Amino acid sequence: MLNTAKHNSLALLALTSLTSAFQTCVVPLGGPGIDDSDAVRALLPNCSANAEIVFSSCTTYNISTPINFGTLSNVTISILGDLNLPASIPYVQSLVNATAKQSLHWFTIAGTDVTLQGNQNPAEGFVYPYGEQWWTAAQHVTPLGGLPLRPHGFSVNANRTTIRYMKVSKPIAWNFALSGSDYVVHDNWIDASYDLNTPNVFPFNTDGYDVKGTNVTFYNNHVFNGDDCVAVNNGAHNVYITDMICEGGHGISLSGVDDISNVIFNNITSRNSLYATRFKSSLDSTGNVSDVHWQNIYVLNATFPVFATSVYFDQNTNRGETPGVYPANSTATFIDNFSWTNVSGTINDMYPGDGSCVTDPCWYYVANATNTAGVTMQLLNGTASGVHLENINLLPIDGKGVSDTYCNPDSFTDGTENLGFVCANGPYKAT
Ligand SMILES: *[C@@H]1O[C@H](CO)[C@@H](O)[C@H](O)[C@H]1NC(C)=O
Ligand SMILES: *[C@@H]1O[C@H](CO)[C@@H](O)[C@H](O)[C@H]1NC(C)=O
Ligand SMILES: *[C@@H]1O[C@H](CO)[C@@H](O)[C@H](O)[C@H]1NC(C)=O
Ligand SMILES: *[C@@H]1O[C@H](CO)[C@@H](O)[C@H](O)[C@H]1NC(C)=O
Ligand SMILES: *[C@@H]1O[C@H](CO)[C@@H](O)[C@H](O)[C@H]1NC(C)=O
Ligand SMILES: *[C@@H]1O[C@H](CO)[C@@H](O)[C@H](O)[C@H]1NC(C)=O
Ligand SMILES: *[C@@H]1O[C@H](CO)[C@@H](O)[C@H](O)[C@H]1NC(C)=O
Ligand SMILES: *[C@@H]1O[C@H](CO)[C@@H](O)[C@H](O)[C@H]1NC(C)=O
Ligand SMILES: *[C@@H]1O[C@H](CO)[C@@H](O)[C@H](O)[C@H]1NC(C)=O
Ligand SMILES: *[C@@H]1O[C@H](CO)[C@@H](O)[C@H](O)[C@H]1NC(C)=O
Ligand SMILES: *[C@@H]1O[C@H](CO)[C@@H](O)[C@H](O)[C@H]1NC(C)=O
Ligand SMILES: *[C@@H]1O[C@H](CO)[C@@H](O)[C@H](O)[C@H]1NC(C)=O
Repeated sequence: MLNTAKHNSLALLALTSLTSAFQTCVVPLGGPGIDDSDAVRALLPNCSANAEIVFSSCTTYNISTPINFGTLSNVTISILGDLNLPASIPYVQSLVNATAKQSLHWFTIAGTDVTLQGNQNPAEGFVYPYGEQWWTAAQHVTPLGGLPLRPHGFSVNANRTTIRYMKVSKPIAWNFALSGSDYVVHDNWIDASYDLNTPNVFPFNTDGYDVKGTNVTFYNNHVFNGDDCVAVNNGAHNVYITDMICEGGHGISLSGVDDISNVIFNNITSRNSLYATRFKSSLDSTGNVSDVHWQNIYVLNATFPVFATSVYFDQNTNRGETPGVYPANSTATFIDNFSWTNVSGTINDMYPGDGSCVTDPCWYYVANATNTAGVTMQLLNGTASGVHLENINLLPIDGKGVSDTYCNPDSFTDGTENLGFVCANGPYKAT
């Protein structure tokens, strides 16, 4: 008996030291009128290492002010309940306006061994930024293209990070900005869904993910939005994005000018997007992007299913200029070893384009491209090598006409023999 009591107290001691090593920090709910972000900030000094920060299930938190979680080490943030962001547009704009460079992320996370997770129950664990009213209001301001002073969603700069089961409903604009290394991003749902047939209400700049990390894996993610589904940006290496659904918006995108390599986009379903797959680099950029592969792409109703441009036209910074018109001395990023393999589906030739077009001519206008532009290679002279297309099967959605190619042989420093298609403007022909 005595011995047992001794064992019990030893066990209790061991348990006590374990619990002090790993803490569960439940964010308390403040109740009406209270900004619950204050309670999160109060927890952080004790919960930044070896801890789980829990937003409780069946609870709606009021996250009225942005939260910087600081530098975390071995921390899981579990959003099991719902997070309401402020619904007042002027209030949020005033917060953005007050920040350096007028750039504000609502949630900022840094560190090592970080997990950001939602609730696996599809009915809760939502982040609600109330973006729809911003999209609606944007049609009444000039210049068109989204309200000024919009906040970003999540900034995550960490090593060894998992982001899973997150659900963002109606973001105001940009969602996840990821940097650092060793990311696994899976089973997340970004819902900036909009009415495809009401073009004057459009969720501008609602990028799903902007990625500039190393060793990044995405799977089973779903995005419906009005900009890049995923944009792989400068500084991204070893990125594998698979089993993803992208709806609306601007597709699965390699979007950068330099220092990007080893990127694979695999098994992507694209629905009603302006671009299904896109390489996008800006005019007068310099730099190199290499080893980028799009494979097993299922396209439903894309205006530009296979698209590469080194002369991207930004309708804000290039306002007043004409897309596709540039001086002969222009420069562009050099691309090497790019491929598109097994791309099948339909081209949107019935209602081409989307609500992002607020300039005339439109920012995505390509001179001489037809309305059945299956494959578009808008690349400056001598800026590409090792480009290859294989097993491309695209048809206009109304069954009228054929898939066209837009291509200039001068783009390719290694000639056109190995492209896998005839590089000319006209009907797509595999070789
Ligand atoms: C993180 O915390 C968990 C739970 O306490 C623990 O098992 C694990 O060893 C910790 N990992 C690191 C890298 O500290
Ligand atoms: C959220 O917090 C703000 C700031 O404290 C407060 O004005 C507002 O009433 C709160 N909202 C709710 C629903 O409690
Ligand atoms: C942080 O931990 C210390 C020591 O365990 C405790 O006294 C304090 O109340 C804790 N603070 C919070 C906000 O939990
Ligand atoms: C932004 O801040 C500036 C300077 O503080 C102020 O003049 C301007 O009115 C603010 N704009 C908005 C939209 O709040
Ligand atoms: C991630 O690791 C890199 C390389 O070791 C380091 O430079 C960087 O500071 C780390 N990032 C964070 C947020 O700890
Ligand atoms: C990326 O993964 C490779 C292979 O596992 C590893 O050698 C490398 O150190 C990782 N890089 C970073 C920045 O984590
Ligand atoms: C492709 O991805 C979808 C999810 O978008 C998944 O259901 C399907 O199983 C994947 N196909 C293969 C062959 O892995
Ligand atoms: C194709 O996409 C366009 C633009 O998003 C949309 O207006 C149209 O309804 C879609 N067509 C079909 C058949 O889904
Ligand atoms: C890009 O690659 C070329 C060789 O293909 C090299 O001369 C140039 O320095 C590289 N540029 C950058 C920015 O790395
Ligand atoms: C591209 O190359 C072709 C053929 O060499 C030449 O006629 C044309 O002027 C070049 N275009 C530019 C913008 O340099
Ligand atoms: C091209 O030439 C124009 C006019 O001479 C000059 O202003 C511009 O900077 C040049 N652009 C590049 C990329 O060299
Ligand atoms: C478009 O086609 C016309 C007529 O063939 C040609 O003169 C012009 O250079 C082409 N423009 C582009 C950007 O390809």
